[in-house]
Amino acid sequence: MKRTLIKETAELAGKQVKLSGWVNVRRDHGKLIFIDLRDRTGVIQMVIIPDKVEAYAAAKEARSEFVISVEGLIKERPASQVKADDPNSKVEIEVEKMEILSRVEGELSFDPSKKDLDVNLPTLLDNRNLALRNKKVNGIFLVYSQILKSYAEAMRESGFLEIKTPKIVSAATEGGANFFKIKYFKRDAFLAQSPQFYKQAGVGAFERVFEIGSVFRAEQHFTSRHVNEYIGLDAEMGFIENFSDIMDQLQQAMRRIMKDVEANCADILKEYEIEEIAAPEQFPRIKLTEALDILKKEYKKETEGIDIDPEGERMISEWAKKTYNSDFIFLTHYPVSVRPFYTMPSADPQYTESFDLIFKGVEIATGGQRIHNYEQLVASIKRHKLNPEDFTSYLDIFKIGMPAHGGWGLGSERIVQKILNIDSIKEAILFPRDVKRLTP
Ligand code: 4AD
Repeated sequence: MKRTLIKETAELAGKQVKLSGWVNVRRDHGKLIFIDLRDRTGVIQMVIIPDKVEAYAAAKEARSEFVISVEGLIKERPASQVKADDPNSKVEIEVEKMEILSRVEGELSFDPSKKDLDVNLPTLLDNRNLALRNKKVNGIFLVYSQILKSYAEAMRESGFLEIKTPKIVSAATEGGANFFKIKYFKRDAFLAQSPQFYKQAGVGAFERVFEIGSVFRAEQHFTSRHVNEYIGLDAEMGFIENFSDIMDQLQQAMRRIMKDVEANCADILKEYEIEEIAAPEQFPRIKLTEALDILKKEYKKETEGIDIDPEGERMISEWAKKTYNSDFIFLTHYPVSVRPFYTMPSADPQYTESFDLIFKGVEIATGGQRIHNYEQLVASIKRHKLNPEDFTSYLDIFKIGMPAHGGWGLGSERIVQKILNIDSIKEAILFPRDVKRLTP
């Protein structure tokens, strides 16, 4: 018999089916045994009676997370047992045959069938394969998958071509020291800190490109929003008038993602108690200096230096929500000194044509216009105390004709973290890599 998926059984009362999946919960009532069977589409109650001798013996042996396959009759359950929000509760299966396909060795570290796992972060990550069986944990990755899909669709619909760029590179792209150096045969190489140079090259060939790809950062951070390997949603576009064009495009992609998540992941949002995501037609845009003034006036927060800190980002987000009912805010015109060498300076050369996008208190994207003139770029490299000779192949792009262009780098895991209000970014990553963690 061909396998039926659990979500299909709601309409199959009176029919004989074969189901396969994991034992979610097993209740032995002496005579009757009840097992909740789980597959990727849902959970169904199974009833096993002693008359079905072989099935009953298998049900006696079965334990949580055993993989089983059953055949039996789908029956409607009494109305009093039907839950309004669970279509599968309409039916159960009376089991006639049961086969155990795979057993559990030893004890499980925790019971993944619980609604809330209630275990600490190290336990959750050490036992990642088991934790991912939990419905609520599993839901994070359904939302994540929707984000990736919607991003790609939104970008394609705006004429962007999807590209994949090398992750083993010869030069660090973002400056600073947060790169992983690796041995590449007899030479040194780096793991890409961003696809920055290659996506700019993509503009020279295709005008508009986007990439969904791994980014590596050797940061010794122990925060709730940093990991050492993440998936960047990057984009770069040519023939821009100014950097507002880039913010418009990013805003469109974010609105599309939020709309699709609200429409297609409503049950998961409900489980995480998320009522709405405020993504208005126009996200507020204010200069960084204005943001720092607002923090001073309204929050009595003095900022050391010229950049906003994580606390400031939380406060300015709160202000945007209060003032514009927006969970998003663009901060613009960052000082030259805190931006990479490729960033286009503003008319006032202390500042840059750049922005950060803050979502529910956390920076999720950085972007801006790039310098596209060869001489200006060489001068900027020198001003940043770097050696133009280390960037020869990058600089070559600007010797063969490049339009005004710009783009962004967007952290995919931070988006899902903030949508679901998850404490740590690591919970939003299947197998996270941090300073201490290389397994599972
Ligand atoms: O601000 P970043 O470093 O910008 C760039 O990579 C530029 N090349 C972007 C551009 O096109 N100008 O990183 C971009 C985003 C951040 O806003 C954040 O969401 C995410 O990438 N990110 C991290 N996410 C998780 N862990 C880390 N260690 C991250 N570092 C950056």
